[in-house]
Amino acid sequence: MNREPLVLGIETSCDETGIGIVRGRTLLSNTIASSMDEHARYGGVVPEVAARAHLEALQPAIEAALAEARVALSDLDAVAVTSGPGLAGALMVGIGAAKALAVALGKPLYAVNHLVGHIAADILDAEAPPLEYPTVALLVSGGHTSLLLVRDLTSDVELLGETVDDAAGEAFDKVARLLGLPYPGGPQIDRAAASGDPASIRFPRGLSRASDMDKHRYDFSFSGLKTAVARWVEQQPEGAEIPVADVAASFRESVVDVLVTKALDACARYEVPRLLLGGGVIANRRLRDVALERADAAGVTVRIPPLSLCTDNGAMIAALASELIMAGRAPSSLGFGADSTLPVTQIQVDEAVPA
Ligand code: KG4
Ligand code: ZN
Repeated sequence: MNREPLVLGIETSCDETGIGIVRGRTLLSNTIASSMDEHARYGGVVPEVAARAHLEALQPAIEAALAEARVALSDLDAVAVTSGPGLAGALMVGIGAAKALAVALGKPLYAVNHLVGHIAADILDAEAPPLEYPTVALLVSGGHTSLLLVRDLTSDVELLGETVDDAAGEAFDKVARLLGLPYPGGPQIDRAAASGDPASIRFPRGLSRASDMDKHRYDFSFSGLKTAVARWVEQQPEGAEIPVADVAASFRESVVDVLVTKALDACARYEVPRLLLGGGVIANRRLRDVALERADAAGVTVRIPPLSLCTDNGAMIAALASELIMAGRAPSSLGFGADSTLPVTQIQVDEAVPA
Protein backbone atom coordinates (compact mmCIF):
# COMPACT_ATOMS: atom_id res chain seq x y z
CA MET A 1 0.00 0.00 0.00
CA ASN A 2 1.17 3.55 -0.68
CA ARG A 3 2.59 5.55 2.19
CA GLU A 4 -0.48 7.73 2.61
CA PRO A 5 -3.52 5.46 2.59
CA LEU A 6 -6.92 6.78 1.56
CA VAL A 7 -9.29 5.57 4.27
CA LEU A 8 -13.04 5.93 4.79
CA GLY A 9 -14.12 5.69 8.44
CA ILE A 10 -17.58 4.81 9.73
CA GLU A 11 -18.68 5.79 13.24
CA THR A 12 -22.07 4.78 14.64
CA SER A 13 -21.42 4.08 18.33
CA CYS A 14 -23.95 6.59 19.69
CA ASP A 15 -26.27 9.13 18.09
CA GLU A 16 -23.93 10.52 15.42
CA THR A 17 -23.62 8.85 12.04
CA GLY A 18 -20.10 9.93 11.13
CA ILE A 19 -18.38 9.31 7.82
CA GLY A 20 -14.86 10.64 7.45
CA ILE A 21 -12.25 10.34 4.75
CA VAL A 22 -8.54 10.89 5.33
CA ARG A 23 -5.41 10.51 3.26
CA GLY A 24 -2.61 9.64 5.65
CA ARG A 25 -2.91 12.38 8.25
CA THR A 26 -4.85 14.78 6.07
CA LEU A 27 -8.56 15.30 6.61
CA LEU A 28 -10.50 15.25 3.34
CA SER A 29 -14.07 15.14 4.65
CA ASN A 30 -15.99 14.82 7.90
CA THR A 31 -19.72 14.29 7.40
CA ILE A 32 -21.95 14.00 10.44
CA ALA A 33 -25.67 13.29 10.65
CA SER A 34 -27.00 13.45 14.20
CA SER A 35 -30.22 11.95 15.55
CA MET A 36 -29.96 14.15 18.65
CA ASP A 37 -33.27 15.92 17.92
CA GLU A 38 -35.10 12.60 17.91
CA HIS A 39 -33.78 11.84 21.40
CA ALA A 40 -34.59 15.26 22.84
CA ARG A 41 -38.10 14.41 24.00
CA TYR A 42 -36.75 11.40 25.94
CA GLY A 43 -34.06 13.46 27.66
CA GLY A 44 -31.27 11.14 26.53
CA VAL A 45 -30.16 8.83 23.73
CA VAL A 46 -32.57 5.96 23.03
CA PRO A 47 -30.51 3.08 21.57
CA GLU A 48 -33.22 1.74 19.26
CA VAL A 49 -33.94 5.19 17.86
CA ALA A 50 -30.21 5.77 17.30
CA ALA A 51 -29.78 2.46 15.44
CA ARG A 52 -32.70 3.17 13.11
CA ALA A 53 -31.42 6.67 12.42
CA HIS A 54 -27.99 5.25 11.46
CA LEU A 55 -29.67 2.95 8.92
CA GLU A 56 -31.32 5.91 7.27
CA ALA A 57 -28.37 8.28 7.45
CA LEU A 58 -25.49 6.03 6.41
CA GLN A 59 -25.86 5.90 2.65
CA PRO A 60 -26.41 9.65 2.11
CA ALA A 61 -23.58 10.42 4.56
CA ILE A 62 -21.18 8.16 2.65
CA GLU A 63 -22.13 9.83 -0.63
CA ALA A 64 -21.72 13.30 0.85
CA ALA A 65 -18.32 12.43 2.30
CA LEU A 66 -17.06 11.01 -1.00
CA ALA A 67 -18.30 14.07 -2.90
CA GLU A 68 -16.68 16.47 -0.43
CA ALA A 69 -13.38 14.58 -0.54
CA ARG A 70 -13.65 14.36 -4.35
CA VAL A 71 -12.83 10.66 -4.36
CA ALA A 72 -14.66 7.57 -5.58
CA LEU A 73 -15.25 4.38 -3.58
CA SER A 74 -12.87 2.59 -5.94
CA ASP A 75 -10.05 5.00 -4.93
CA LEU A 76 -10.15 3.85 -1.28
CA ASP A 77 -7.26 1.85 0.14
CA ALA A 78 -9.20 0.71 3.20
CA VAL A 79 -12.43 0.97 5.15
CA ALA A 80 -12.47 1.56 8.91
CA VAL A 81 -15.25 1.16 11.45
CA THR A 82 -15.87 1.58 15.17
CA SER A 83 -16.45 -1.85 16.69
CA GLY A 84 -16.83 -0.58 20.26
CA PRO A 85 -17.34 0.64 22.89
CA GLY A 86 -20.83 2.07 22.39
CA LEU A 87 -24.45 1.08 21.94
CA ALA A 88 -24.51 -2.47 20.57
CA GLY A 89 -27.40 -1.98 18.14
CA ALA A 90 -25.99 1.29 16.84
CA LEU A 91 -22.52 -0.21 16.39
CA MET A 92 -23.97 -3.16 14.45
CA VAL A 93 -25.42 -0.88 11.79
CA GLY A 94 -22.03 0.68 11.07
CA ILE A 95 -20.23 -2.65 11.22
CA GLY A 96 -22.67 -4.25 8.77
CA ALA A 97 -22.24 -1.39 6.34
CA ALA A 98 -18.44 -1.43 6.67
CA LYS A 99 -18.19 -5.17 6.07
CA ALA A 100 -20.45 -4.95 3.02
CA LEU A 101 -18.42 -2.08 1.62
CA ALA A 102 -15.08 -3.77 2.21
CA VAL A 103 -16.21 -7.07 0.69
CA ALA A 104 -17.85 -5.42 -2.32
CA LEU A 105 -14.78 -3.27 -2.97
CA GLY A 106 -12.28 -6.01 -2.17
CA LYS A 107 -10.53 -3.64 0.28
CA PRO A 108 -9.09 -4.29 3.75
CA LEU A 109 -11.25 -3.48 6.77
CA TYR A 110 -9.93 -2.09 10.04
CA ALA A 111 -12.20 -2.48 13.10
CA VAL A 112 -11.05 0.00 15.73
CA ASN A 113 -11.67 1.32 19.24
CA HIS A 114 -13.87 4.39 19.51
CA LEU A 115 -12.02 5.87 22.49
CA VAL A 116 -8.63 5.58 20.83
CA GLY A 117 -10.27 7.17 17.79
CA HIS A 118 -10.94 10.25 19.91
CA ILE A 119 -7.20 10.55 20.46
CA ALA A 120 -6.45 9.97 16.76
CA ALA A 121 -8.68 12.97 15.97
CA ASP A 122 -5.86 15.16 17.23
CA ILE A 123 -3.58 14.00 14.41
CA LEU A 124 -5.93 15.56 11.86
CA ASP A 125 -5.53 19.02 13.36
CA ALA A 126 -3.47 20.60 10.60
CA GLU A 127 -2.73 23.68 12.72
CA ALA A 128 -1.14 21.77 15.60
CA PRO A 129 2.42 20.46 15.86
CA PRO A 130 2.76 16.65 15.77
CA LEU A 131 1.34 14.72 18.73
CA GLU A 132 4.09 13.81 21.17
CA TYR A 133 4.20 10.73 23.40
CA PRO A 134 3.57 9.88 26.08
CA THR A 135 0.50 12.00 26.67
CA VAL A 136 -2.32 11.88 29.18
CA ALA A 137 -5.74 12.06 27.50
CA LEU A 138 -9.02 13.09 29.09
CA LEU A 139 -12.08 12.05 27.06
CA VAL A 140 -15.39 13.49 28.20
CA SER A 141 -18.69 13.07 26.42
CA GLY A 142 -22.26 11.96 26.95
CA GLY A 143 -21.14 8.34 26.76
CA HIS A 144 -17.71 8.27 28.37
CA THR A 145 -15.39 9.86 30.89
CA SER A 146 -11.97 8.28 30.63
CA LEU A 147 -8.47 9.19 31.66
CA LEU A 148 -5.83 7.50 29.52
CA LEU A 149 -2.07 7.29 29.32
CA VAL A 150 -1.09 7.09 25.66
CA ARG A 151 2.44 5.91 24.96
CA ASP A 152 1.70 5.09 21.34
CA LEU A 153 -1.60 5.50 19.56
CA THR A 154 -1.27 2.27 17.59
CA SER A 155 0.12 -0.01 20.26
CA ASP A 156 0.06 1.27 23.82
CA VAL A 157 -2.93 2.95 25.44
CA GLU A 158 -3.46 2.43 29.17
CA LEU A 159 -6.68 3.11 31.04
CA LEU A 160 -5.88 5.10 34.18
CA GLY A 161 -9.48 5.59 35.23
CA GLU A 162 -13.04 6.09 34.10
CA THR A 163 -16.45 6.93 35.45
CA VAL A 164 -17.97 4.39 37.80
CA ASP A 165 -21.50 5.63 37.06
CA ASP A 166 -22.66 8.51 34.83
CA ALA A 167 -20.51 10.06 32.13
CA ALA A 168 -19.77 13.77 32.57
CA GLY A 169 -22.02 14.78 29.67
CA GLU A 170 -24.76 12.56 31.02
CA ALA A 171 -24.51 14.39 34.35
CA PHE A 172 -24.96 17.71 32.52
CA ASP A 173 -27.99 16.26 30.72
CA LYS A 174 -29.58 14.92 33.91
CA VAL A 175 -29.00 18.06 35.97
CA ALA A 176 -30.37 20.18 33.12
CA ARG A 177 -33.51 18.08 33.17
CA LEU A 178 -34.05 18.57 36.89
CA LEU A 179 -33.56 22.31 36.43
CA GLY A 180 -36.22 22.26 33.71
CA LEU A 181 -33.75 22.86 30.86
CA PRO A 182 -34.02 20.93 27.56
CA TYR A 183 -31.74 18.18 26.15
CA PRO A 184 -28.86 18.18 25.45
CA GLY A 185 -28.18 19.75 28.80
CA GLY A 186 -24.51 20.64 28.45
CA PRO A 187 -24.91 23.77 26.34
CA GLN A 188 -28.00 24.78 28.35
CA ILE A 189 -26.21 24.53 31.69
CA ASP A 190 -23.25 26.35 30.20
CA ARG A 191 -25.49 29.21 29.09
CA ALA A 192 -27.35 29.39 32.41
CA ALA A 193 -24.08 29.24 34.36
CA ALA A 194 -22.69 32.31 32.61
CA SER A 195 -24.59 34.66 34.93
CA GLY A 196 -24.27 32.50 38.03
CA ASP A 197 -21.82 32.42 40.93
CA PRO A 198 -19.79 29.17 40.88
CA ALA A 199 -18.90 29.58 44.56
CA SER A 200 -22.49 30.08 45.75
CA ILE A 201 -23.17 26.40 46.49
CA ARG A 202 -20.47 23.90 47.41
CA PHE A 203 -21.45 20.67 45.65
CA PRO A 204 -19.46 17.47 46.29
CA ARG A 205 -16.42 16.45 44.22
CA GLY A 206 -16.90 12.75 43.44
CA LEU A 207 -14.15 10.25 44.37
CA SER A 208 -11.85 13.04 45.53
CA ARG A 209 -11.46 12.23 49.22
CA ALA A 210 -8.14 11.03 50.61
CA SER A 211 -9.81 7.64 51.22
CA ASP A 212 -10.69 7.39 47.49
CA MET A 213 -7.09 7.81 46.36
CA ASP A 214 -6.15 4.19 46.92
CA LYS A 215 -8.66 2.55 44.61
CA HIS A 216 -10.20 5.38 42.62
CA ARG A 217 -7.53 8.00 42.21
CA TYR A 218 -8.26 8.41 38.50
CA ASP A 219 -11.88 7.28 38.47
CA PHE A 220 -14.85 9.62 38.30
CA SER A 221 -18.33 9.54 39.82
CA PHE A 222 -21.06 12.02 38.97
CA SER A 223 -24.21 10.36 40.25
CA GLY A 224 -23.68 11.61 43.83
CA LEU A 225 -23.28 15.13 42.46
CA LYS A 226 -26.50 14.82 40.50
CA THR A 227 -28.30 13.63 43.66
CA ALA A 228 -26.79 16.49 45.65
CA VAL A 229 -28.12 19.01 43.14
CA ALA A 230 -31.56 17.35 43.22
CA ARG A 231 -31.60 17.42 47.01
CA TRP A 232 -30.50 21.06 47.15
CA VAL A 233 -33.30 22.04 44.77
CA GLU A 234 -35.87 20.01 46.73
CA GLN A 235 -34.83 21.63 50.00
CA GLN A 236 -35.64 25.16 48.86
CA PRO A 237 -38.66 26.61 50.62
CA GLU A 238 -41.92 26.05 48.83
CA GLY A 239 -42.71 28.78 46.35
CA ALA A 240 -39.12 30.08 46.35
CA GLU A 241 -37.61 30.68 42.95
CA ILE A 242 -34.71 28.32 42.19
CA PRO A 243 -31.56 30.33 41.42
CA VAL A 244 -30.91 28.32 38.24
CA ALA A 245 -27.84 30.34 37.23
CA ASP A 246 -26.11 29.79 40.59
CA VAL A 247 -27.01 26.09 40.71
CA ALA A 248 -25.79 25.60 37.13
CA ALA A 249 -22.54 27.49 37.77
CA SER A 250 -21.84 25.62 41.02
CA PHE A 251 -22.62 22.25 39.43
CA ARG A 252 -20.42 23.00 36.42
CA GLU A 253 -17.61 24.09 38.73
CA SER A 254 -17.72 20.77 40.55
CA VAL A 255 -17.53 18.74 37.32
CA VAL A 256 -14.77 20.90 35.85
CA ASP A 257 -12.77 20.89 39.09
CA VAL A 258 -12.79 17.10 39.37
CA LEU A 259 -11.95 16.52 35.69
CA VAL A 260 -9.05 18.95 35.64
CA THR A 261 -7.69 18.01 39.07
CA LYS A 262 -7.55 14.29 38.24
CA ALA A 263 -6.11 14.83 34.77
CA LEU A 264 -3.32 17.06 36.06
CA ASP A 265 -2.69 14.70 38.97
CA ALA A 266 -2.07 11.96 36.38
CA CYS A 267 0.29 14.25 34.45
CA ALA A 268 2.26 14.92 37.64
CA ARG A 269 2.38 11.34 38.87
CA TYR A 270 3.38 9.85 35.51
CA GLU A 271 5.68 12.82 34.81
CA VAL A 272 3.94 13.52 31.52
CA PRO A 273 3.82 17.25 30.73
CA ARG A 274 1.16 16.83 28.02
CA LEU A 275 -2.61 16.64 28.24
CA LEU A 276 -4.96 15.97 25.34
CA LEU A 277 -8.66 16.77 25.67
CA GLY A 278 -11.44 15.16 23.64
CA GLY A 279 -15.19 14.43 23.58
CA GLY A 280 -18.27 16.63 23.24
CA VAL A 281 -18.05 18.11 26.76
CA ILE A 282 -14.88 19.92 25.67
CA ALA A 283 -17.32 22.40 24.11
CA ASN A 284 -17.65 23.69 27.67
CA ARG A 285 -15.68 26.92 27.78
CA ARG A 286 -15.23 26.83 31.54
CA LEU A 287 -13.66 23.36 31.27
CA ARG A 288 -11.26 24.56 28.59
CA ASP A 289 -10.38 27.73 30.49
CA VAL A 290 -9.76 25.99 33.83
CA ALA A 291 -7.76 23.22 32.12
CA LEU A 292 -5.58 25.74 30.26
CA GLU A 293 -5.06 27.92 33.32
CA ARG A 294 -4.18 25.15 35.77
CA ALA A 295 -2.11 23.22 33.23
CA ASP A 296 -0.10 26.32 32.50
CA ALA A 297 0.64 26.73 36.20
CA ALA A 298 1.69 23.06 36.35
CA GLY A 299 3.93 23.27 33.27
CA VAL A 300 1.64 21.01 31.24
CA THR A 301 0.85 21.67 27.57
CA VAL A 302 -2.80 21.21 26.62
CA ARG A 303 -3.97 20.10 23.19
CA ILE A 304 -7.58 20.61 22.16
CA PRO A 305 -8.53 19.54 18.64
CA PRO A 306 -11.20 21.60 16.85
CA LEU A 307 -14.64 20.82 18.29
CA SER A 308 -15.85 19.19 15.03
CA LEU A 309 -13.16 16.55 15.64
CA CYS A 310 -13.80 16.32 19.42
CA THR A 311 -17.42 15.18 19.12
CA ASP A 312 -18.08 11.73 17.67
CA ASN A 313 -17.10 11.56 14.00
CA GLY A 314 -15.93 9.17 11.30
CA ALA A 315 -12.75 11.07 10.47
CA MET A 316 -11.16 10.06 13.78
CA ILE A 317 -11.91 6.42 13.00
CA ALA A 318 -10.36 6.75 9.56
CA ALA A 319 -7.38 8.55 11.12
CA LEU A 320 -6.75 5.72 13.59
CA ALA A 321 -6.94 3.10 10.84
CA SER A 322 -4.61 5.19 8.72
CA GLU A 323 -2.08 5.20 11.59
CA LEU A 324 -2.44 1.42 11.96
CA ILE A 325 -1.88 0.93 8.23
CA MET A 326 1.19 3.18 8.23
CA ALA A 327 2.49 1.19 11.22
CA GLY A 328 2.24 -1.95 9.08
CA ARG A 329 -0.68 -3.59 10.85
CA ALA A 330 -2.78 -6.24 9.12
CA PRO A 331 -6.49 -5.60 8.57
CA SER A 332 -9.17 -7.14 10.79
CA SER A 333 -10.61 -10.46 9.77
CA LEU A 334 -14.30 -10.24 8.99
CA GLY A 335 -15.58 -12.30 11.91
CA PHE A 336 -15.68 -9.48 14.47
CA GLY A 337 -18.88 -8.15 15.98
CA ALA A 338 -19.96 -5.18 18.07
CA ASP A 339 -18.39 -5.00 21.52
CA SER A 340 -20.22 -2.46 23.64
CA THR A 341 -17.61 -2.69 26.41
CA LEU A 342 -14.46 -2.98 24.29
CA PRO A 343 -11.52 -2.14 26.59
CA VAL A 344 -9.42 0.83 25.54
CA THR A 345 -6.29 -1.31 25.54
CA GLN A 346 -7.66 -3.10 22.48
CA ILE A 347 -6.91 -0.54 19.81
CA GLN A 348 -7.76 -2.75 16.86
CA VAL A 349 -10.13 -5.70 16.88
CA ASP A 350 -9.43 -9.08 15.30
CA GLU A 351 -6.19 -8.24 13.51
CA ALA A 352 -5.76 -11.01 10.97
CA VAL A 353 -2.87 -13.34 11.66
CA PRO A 354 -0.77 -13.76 8.51
CA ALA A 355 -1.09 -17.36 7.20
O1 KG4 B 1 -19.15 13.66 22.18
P1 KG4 B 1 -20.60 13.96 22.12
O2 KG4 B 1 -21.09 14.84 21.00
O3 KG4 B 1 -21.45 12.63 22.02
C1 KG4 B 1 -21.31 11.56 22.88
O4 KG4 B 1 -21.97 11.60 23.95
O5 KG4 B 1 -20.54 10.63 22.58
O6 KG4 B 1 -21.01 14.60 23.51
C2 KG4 B 1 -22.33 14.99 23.82
C3 KG4 B 1 -22.38 15.38 25.26
C4 KG4 B 1 -23.81 15.64 25.76
O7 KG4 B 1 -23.98 14.98 26.99
C5 KG4 B 1 -23.85 17.15 25.95
O8 KG4 B 1 -24.71 17.57 26.99
C6 KG4 B 1 -22.39 17.46 26.27
O9 KG4 B 1 -21.64 16.59 25.46
N1 KG4 B 1 -22.06 18.85 25.97
C7 KG4 B 1 -21.65 19.72 26.89
C8 KG4 B 1 -21.51 20.96 26.22
N2 KG4 B 1 -21.82 20.77 24.91
C9 KG4 B 1 -22.16 19.47 24.78
N3 KG4 B 1 -21.40 19.56 28.20
C10 KG4 B 1 -21.02 20.64 28.87
N4 KG4 B 1 -20.89 21.86 28.33
C11 KG4 B 1 -21.11 22.07 27.02
N5 KG4 B 1 -20.95 23.29 26.48
ZN1 ZN C 1 -17.21 9.45 21.73
